[in-house]
Amino acid sequence: MVPETLEIELLSKNLSERIQFITSYFAGEKIVFSTSFGQEDQAITHAIASTNSAIEIFTLDTGRQFQESYELMDLTIKKYSLSLKTYFPSTPAVEKLVAEKGFNSFYTSVENRKECCFVRKMEPLNRAISGAKVWITGLRAEQSENRADMPIIEWDENRQLFKINPLIDWSFETLEKYLVEHKIPQNPLHKKGFVSIGCAPCTRAIAEGEHPRAGRWWWENSQKECGLHA
Ligand code: ADX
Ligand code: SF4
Repeated sequence: MVPETLEIELLSKNLSERIQFITSYFAGEKIVFSTSFGQEDQAITHAIASTNSAIEIFTLDTGRQFQESYELMDLTIKKYSLSLKTYFPSTPAVEKLVAEKGFNSFYTSVENRKECCFVRKMEPLNRAISGAKVWITGLRAEQSENRADMPIIEWDENRQLFKINPLIDWSFETLEKYLVEHKIPQNPLHKKGFVSIGCAPCTRAIAEGEHPRAGRWWWENSQKECGLHA
């Protein structure tokens, strides 16, 4: 479904050019970018803002994130004058989940963890991408085995949209260099050993040499995906 030339074209460009190319190629269509304010997402936000691209930026506020993450959100919105859309979980769904299983059911089984991720992330995501032709994410191939073979652009049959991962071929070193070069704000938790940052109760710092996603749902032996990109 994705013409090979489109993939080659995207891969030949730098980040700003990729963002501009996506915007003009899909002009007139709804293009959305999901940010969790991680390092990858901050680089993409910078590229979107500095090229003034017509891309809607949204975040999924699970209600369980770190205080540092909320501070970074405010800082980033202010720095780039973003009109960011925040999607919250459905109130009746969270109320039902907490009433039935308590506040921390995610620690008790993979099934319960996925249920929480569904209520707090997946269902809001479905609303956020509704009507979009393109969904941009900050995925990088290096992040995990599951992401290693992901292309820069793919047709998502279930969601009926093009999923574009403009940093898919970037190394962590390239990303860090870009962040420093452009003075892009970052979560202070990165300096404390948090590489991949999700919800506070489900993220811990990692030790040197550990897998970058080892701190996510660290008590599980599962695939360490919440369903957004499974
Ligand atoms: S996750 O699936 O394990 O949570 P990860 O934290 O690696 O994902 O982030 C990968 C990409 O998923 C991000 O670049 C972003 O596009 C999207 N994403 C993850 N969490 C959120 C969130 N809370 N809000 C918006 N987008 C998110
Ligand atoms: Fe719930 Fe943890 Fe998933 Fe966040 S990461 S939605 S707290 S299970």
